[in-house]
Amino acid sequence: MSTTGFVTVPVALGERSYEIRIGSGLMTGVGADAKALGARAATVVTDAHVGPLYLDSVRASLEAAGLAASDIVLPPGESTKSFRHLEEVSNALLAAKIERGDLVIALGGGVIGDLAGFAAAILRRGVRAIQIPTSLLAQVDSSVGGKTGINTKAGKNLIGAFHQPSLVLADTDVLDTLSPREFRAGYAEVVKYGLIDDLSFFSWLEKNWTEVFAGGEARTKAIATSCTSKASIVARDEFETGDRALLNLGHTFAHALEAAVAYDGTRLVHGEAVAIGLALAFEFSARLGLTSEDDADRVRDHLKAVGLPTRIQDIPGEVGDAAHLLDLMGQDKKVSGGRLTFILARGIGRSFIASDIPPQNVLGFLSEKLA
Ligand code: GLY
Repeated sequence: MSTTGFVTVPVALGERSYEIRIGSGLMTGVGADAKALGARAATVVTDAHVGPLYLDSVRASLEAAGLAASDIVLPPGESTKSFRHLEEVSNALLAAKIERGDLVIALGGGVIGDLAGFAAAILRRGVRAIQIPTSLLAQVDSSVGGKTGINTKAGKNLIGAFHQPSLVLADTDVLDTLSPREFRAGYAEVVKYGLIDDLSFFSWLEKNWTEVFAGGEARTKAIATSCTSKASIVARDEFETGDRALLNLGHTFAHALEAAVAYDGTRLVHGEAVAIGLALAFEFSARLGLTSEDDADRVRDHLKAVGLPTRIQDIPGEVGDAAHLLDLMGQDKKVSGGRLTFILARGIGRSFIASDIPPQNVLGFLSEKLA
């Protein structure tokens, strides 16, 4: 792999500003980037799926740039986002003598990005991090915006911190090794950006999705447009006191469905849950008279066309009844005062935060969907 030019998306956050670079071969240049940031040492945090593919070249790049490189390889999977592995990573960073001026490098998907980012946030009250996301989902969502954290028995991501990375390297070469299922799942988050506030991007995806799946310029454009959209929302609401919640479009339904299958990734991966959640958010918006049935159909048709699930019934096995799903939404951290917060839409590209949805409306809607 070699770096052949890249697209840069700035994330404008004052003194916490940074760049997202998107392009081929970027991870092999991470040593020069780490050196340019003034680091002497870097610890790469990765997992046993990604490590064998890319760890050697990342370490070689760091060492060639004169940095003291070390690594920690964790088990793959959501259960790695735990206190136990946070302790393990923290101890590895201390053993490697990572100081404030040094770097934690998150090499992996969302699990590694969130865990390593959180370890960086709390080590010595905050050291810098570079995110090298290796899934489409992590490239367009979790590596950008500084949300880091771990899961506990009480729920996902309930312990964490906002800690912006110093640089995101979205190396598009890594996407060629993803399974079709994993790539499709990440694509649901790409579609989300069109649905939030960019009808022309959604229309472009409808026409060009096969090229996005094939790779090349269309794929880079889709990632860059997604990152630009996320960067703009994060820049106006870094700590989610308002607009940033728009990024949760489809996610209240999605989190309940993931909980209903006990986060069993063989039945449902996060991006698939988001695809169903997006379809449901538009159908629910249509049911409430906010958007047209045509828009809801158009959203579902596109997600279906790329092979994503769009109905609760598309999930293999039982997920429980409407009351159970509603109860799982009640566990979600977006609930306030018995009312539910949903991101709903007045049309494609016209999403908004609705913080006053009576649970019985949701119950009725889910009962129909499950019938
Ligand atoms: N993934 C949602 C956010 O970053 O706010």
